[in-house]
Amino acid sequence: MEQLKQKILSEGIVLPGNVLKVDSFLNHQIDPVLVMAMGEELARRFADAVIDRVLTVEASGIAIGLAAAYALGVPLVFAKKSKSVLMTEDAYTAAVYSYTKKVTNQISVLKRFLPSGESVLIVDDFLANGEASLGLAELVHQASSSVAGVGIAVDKAFQPGHDRLLHAGYRLESLAVIESLDGGRVHFRE
Ligand code: G4P
Repeated sequence: MEQLKQKILSEGIVLPGNVLKVDSFLNHQIDPVLVMAMGEELARRFADAVIDRVLTVEASGIAIGLAAAYALGVPLVFAKKSKSVLMTEDAYTAAVYSYTKKVTNQISVLKRFLPSGESVLIVDDFLANGEASLGLAELVHQASSSVAGVGIAVDKAFQPGHDRLLHAGYRLESLAVIESLDGGRVHFRE
C-alpha cells in the first residue's frame, strides 16, 4: 500500500535491534485517515473471502482491527493480555511469547465473543516473530472456527513470522512488506 509505505519512509525511525518505530501514526499517536484507508485496503484484499468477524490483540492492533472490521461490516473482538477481574466467564486462552519484551502473555477472549463455526480474519499492526498471529489463530481453532486469513500493516518479512504463517497454510495479506532495515534504512519488498 503506497500511502503506508510513504508514511513509513517519511516518519518511521529505525532503531537498533531491527525495530521500526512508527509511533507518530500507528503505535502511539494514530493517523485516522491513514488507518481507515488501511482498513479499506484490507477489506478490498479479502473481498473474495467469507469473513464473519475480525480478531486482533490489544493494544496496538485495535486501531487497524477496527478500521478493517468497519470496512468489512463485521464485529471486531480483541484478545486481552491480562486477565481482568471482570472476566469471570469461560474464555479461550493461548500463550504468546514476546521476543521484544521477553515475556509470555496469556491472551484470552471470552467464548461468547468467539462463536463456533465462523470464518475469522486476524488483523495486527506488526508481524515479526508471528507469535501474536499464531496465538490468535489458536484461539480461533479452540472456538472450532476457521481462519479466513491474516491481515498485517507492517510485515517485517526478514523475521520468522512471515514464513511461519505461510508454512502453517494461512493466507497472508500485508500492506507494507519490509525486506530489511539494514543500515538504518527501510527497504521494502517489491
Ligand atoms: P509478533 O508480534 O509477530 O508476535 O512478534 P514479537 O513477539 O517480536 O513482537 C512483540 C511485540 O513487539 C508486538 O507488540 C509487536 O507488534 C511489536 N513489534 C515487533 N517488531 C516491531 C517493530 O519493529 N516496531 C514496532 N513498533 N513494534 C514491533 P506488543 O507487545 O503486542 O505491543 P502492543 O500491541 O501492546 O503495543
